Formats: sequence, C-alpha cells, structure tokens
Amino acid sequence: DKAGHKHFMAKEIAEQPRVLAAALGHYLTPEGAIALPEPGIDFASVERLTLVACGTASYACYVAKYWFEQVARLPVEIDVASEFRYREPPIPARSAALFVSQSGETADTLAALRYAKSQDARILSVVNVTESSIARDSDIALPILAGAEIGVASTKAFTCQLLVLGALALEAARQRGTIDDAALAAHLQALRQLPGLVDQGLSIEAECQRVSRGLAEARDILFLGRGRMFPLALEGALKLKEISYIHAEAYASGELKHGPIALVDEHVPVIVMAPHDELFDKTVSNMQEVMARGGKVLLITDAKGARIAGDGVWEVITLPEIAPLWAPILYALPAQLLAYHTAVAKGTDVDQPRNLAKSVTVE
Ligand code: M6R
Repeated sequence: DKAGHKHFMAKEIAEQPRVLAAALGHYLTPEGAIALPEPGIDFASVERLTLVACGTASYACYVAKYWFEQVARLPVEIDVASEFRYREPPIPARSAALFVSQSGETADTLAALRYAKSQDARILSVVNVTESSIARDSDIALPILAGAEIGVASTKAFTCQLLVLGALALEAARQRGTIDDAALAAHLQALRQLPGLVDQGLSIEAECQRVSRGLAEARDILFLGRGRMFPLALEGALKLKEISYIHAEAYASGELKHGPIALVDEHVPVIVMAPHDELFDKTVSNMQEVMARGGKVLLITDAKGARIAGDGVWEVITLPEIAPLWAPILYALPAQLLAYHTAVAKGTDVDQPRNLAKSVTVE
C-alpha cells in the first residue's frame, strides 16, 4: 500500500519523521539516557571497532566512523563486505565488529560477519529485519525500527541506521569517558529534535522537483562533500545512479584537484553538500574552483551557508539549521529527493530499477 503516494520510495521518504521518532523512542529513555538491548556492550573494553556493510548501509558506516572517532575516540576500521570477507584481515583482541544491513540477508555482509566471528570478535549488528540471518548470528542485534522498506532504493532505512549508530556512538563516548555530562545531554537533546527537523526539511521537495528537471538532462553529475558530508555525497551519487541511470560520482571535496576537476564544464552539474559547519569554508573554496571553470553548482546548505556562499551558484537548496554532528541525517533528504524526482522526470521504474534486487542474497 503506497498510502496515496505514486511510488513506495516517495512513501518511504515521507515516513522518515515518524520512523525516526519511533527509533528515538526505543533508544532514548524519557529520563534522557541511552537504552541498548541486553546484554549491552562494554565499550570501555573495546579498543577497535570494525564497521562492515554494502551499498547504502556502508555509507551509514562511513558517517558512523566520523562519530565514533570524534566523539568516542574509538579507532574505527571500515570496509565493504565483499572486500572484507576475502581480505581475511587480522582482528586484534578486544575488537568489536558491527555489521549494518537493512535486510539482514545480504550474502557478503553475512559472510563477513561469520569471518569476524571465527576470529573471536564481538559481533554487533544494526538491522531492519530482526528475524534475519545477520540478526540471528550477532551477539547483539540493534533494530532500526524503520518498518518494511519496499523501494529498491534504500531511504528510511538509511536515516534510521544513522540514528541508531549515532546513539551508539554517544553511548560509547559515555562509557569511555570521552564526553562530559553537559555535552552528552546537548547531543541527546539535538537528536530528539531530529524528527521535527526532518519533517521541516521535507519542505524542500518542490525545489528538488524543479531542480531535478535540469538534472535529468545531464549525462554525468558530480557530488562533493567534506568530513561527515562526504558519505552523503556518496549516497547521493548512488541513489541517482540506481534509479535515474545517470552516471554520478562522489568525491571528498579536497580530492577535486587530484583529478575529477578535469571533468568540470557547463554540462556537468556539481552538487555540493555543505551545511555551515567547521569545514564549510574549505568546501566553499572547492566549490569556487568548480565555478571558476564554468561548472554548474547546486549548493545544498542551510540559511547561513546560503547567505555566505549562495551568490553565483546555479541553484541553492536550503535546509533547516541543525547541530553539525547530526547534519548527515537531515542531508539524506536532498540525496533521496533529487534522485527520486530526476528518475520521475526521466520516466524510469523508481521502485524496481533495472538490474537491481532489494536484497542481494548471492554474491
Ligand atoms: O539489505 P542491506 O542493507 O544489506 O543492503 C545493502 C545494499 O544492497 C543496499 O543498501 C543497496 O545499496 C540499496 N539498493 C541502496 O539504495
């Protein structure tokens, strides 16, 4: 049932405020503490965390790497499951390995989990389907509570994965003593505001639809982001490729001069994901390098970012202001909405894109 929407993907994008609120209610107690399922995790004794997944779930891991490293000062190794499983990486003592999967049945992710288990790592998973193989094989499985996701392009599962990983990173920080009570309370308070901000953020849809008519004409599109926004650039490019079949690439904006800037001309839209955070100026200077070469920039930012850097760009999409740490969750919306409306403009099969399956149970 598409609940009045034209596609499951549209319905699932629109559901995000509600499912994020449900996940928050599950992981945050009314007293303001973080609640994890038993037997819990002793993060103080973990010296290294390995994050493994495929596709969109791997981009959730990339974002989480910034959180665990920055807030919990926990060293994080990250890999896509298809590489991890055959690398046979050494897993040091006192490691935990965390696997993220919407379906819980992705063959490579499951094989990677079994390898980590054979090396005596503690196994955590973040899953949507709680009766899945990945959940069953984990020491502790954390549900994301997104509800059934039907569209092949993952949307609400991604934002719910991020939310759960964010809460987990805060819990790790608390246990490891890398955050004081006031900072923890402020982060939790900011997390609580997310469903409301995502709801407000959905009002960019009409803008995204309009801009997408231009994007639908492009043959190639570049996405740029720095720091926590780099994985969002990856997610934006993947979403667009999957459902609109337009070739899209994502780069860490600092990598621009190391190659991809050679592609820039007036035919290649460059989508820059840049909330006004501590790295904003750096990203803007990369953006200006693109504009100086005739590039057509779509800047996705907040009101402050738009004021400072909006002049001369092709288009600006303005999202509500948000605590910088959690911006990736909100900036998933333009990644999803631009892909969705570009695909609709092109008339492709949004929910069942060619060559793709919802759950990749063979390698
Ligand atoms: O079920 P999983 O989360 O393990 O699936 C992983 C990927 O196959 C999945 O995220 C894929 O990249 C999506 N189609 C992205 O929209």
